[in-house]
Amino acid sequence: MSLRVLFLGGAGMIGSAVAAELEQADASLTVVTRSEPKRVLPLGTETLRGDVRSGEQMRELLGAREFDVVVNWVGFEPDHIRDDVDLYRERAGQYVFISTCSVFARPVPQLPITESSPRRQAVFGYGTGKVACEVFLEEAYREKNLPLTIIRPFHTYDRTTIPVLSGWTAIERMRADRGVIVHGDGTSLWTLMHSSDFARAVVPILGNQHAIGESVNVVSGDILSWDQIHTTLAAAAGVRIPKLVHRSSESIAKEYPGWGEVLEHDFRHSMLFDSSKLQSLSPGFAPRVSFSQGAREIVAYHEESSDRRRVNTELDAAFDRLIEGP
Ligand SMILES: NC(=O)c1ccc[n+]([C@@H]2O[C@H](COP(=O)([O-])OP(=O)(O)OC[C@H]3O[C@@H](n4cnc5c(N)ncnc54)[C@H](OP(=O)(O)O)[C@@H]3O)[C@@H](O)[C@H]2O)c1
Repeated sequence: MSLRVLFLGGAGMIGSAVAAELEQADASLTVVTRSEPKRVLPLGTETLRGDVRSGEQMRELLGAREFDVVVNWVGFEPDHIRDDVDLYRERAGQYVFISTCSVFARPVPQLPITESSPRRQAVFGYGTGKVACEVFLEEAYREKNLPLTIIRPFHTYDRTTIPVLSGWTAIERMRADRGVIVHGDGTSLWTLMHSSDFARAVVPILGNQHAIGESVNVVSGDILSWDQIHTTLAAAAGVRIPKLVHRSSESIAKEYPGWGEVLEHDFRHSMLFDSSKLQSLSPGFAPRVSFSQGAREIVAYHEESSDRRRVNTELDAAFDRLIEGP
């Protein structure tokens, strides 16, 4: 019998990639979203409408149905998943919570990051909420037998998402031979993963009894400095030597406060991962999409329509001020 999988949300960038991979694995997939999914889902996918954060609605929607795997893609604070414990501990063979590697403390006390690295995010709201969800669900695993697996993606992208904070504004500026601001001195290290690689890494963990009670960081080995991320995007956009201008995270936050929190508590720290646990749960996994290839897909996708090539004029002006200096 094929694996019966229920997605709570997750018709977005990452979820739809995993849905496509599940189709290859011959699983039967049901996806619950509040509105028509914006991403294309595999042909045989059953789609249901409902708010997955409402226990009452979900009980009514699912009746007595059972699943081998339930994956929650849209929990950002404990209130979003509180009802899941009683709902799914009886009707799911495995309950998977999609968390994030943003739960890990910055600065990272010891590299590489493993699943036992300390989780602490006191300030960065996204990470704080995910830590609270993990702690809440772990207690439900211990006290109430919730068959929990925590999966943590790190920075995952596909052709629709440019994995630098400046997005298309950076590409336009590079093409016009204008400076692009990179935080620090551009040498801190970051790890990127294409959504199709994420999907291939994750599917063997779904329905895998060895993963119950475990958390696993799903990250690729594509380690790049922030300068490399920018120069790779530049090459894909036809720019051989982009003008990269380095400024401290503090100086950037002064000119463009919207980036303050994410730079201080996330992007400016080197993030390198040990993938031994992923290898043990997803044997033989190796990423297939290098960032050079991914960057070419990103640029090609954005070239298809001017709607996708938005320049942020406020950011553009902040970059000019940062380059000109006081
Ligand atoms: N991208 C990354 O680099 C990254 C890194 C780490 C972790 N993650 C994690 O990955 C997850 C996001 O996955 P994704 O990219 O596939 O999703 P996504 O793009 O955020 O899409 C979410 C989907 O879920 C539906 N949804 C949202 N709230 C809902 C609700 N209350 N009830 C029912 N459906 C709901 C949305 O449709 P409706 O609004 O129509 O319902 C949408 O189809 C998040 O948990 C995020 O923290 C991502």
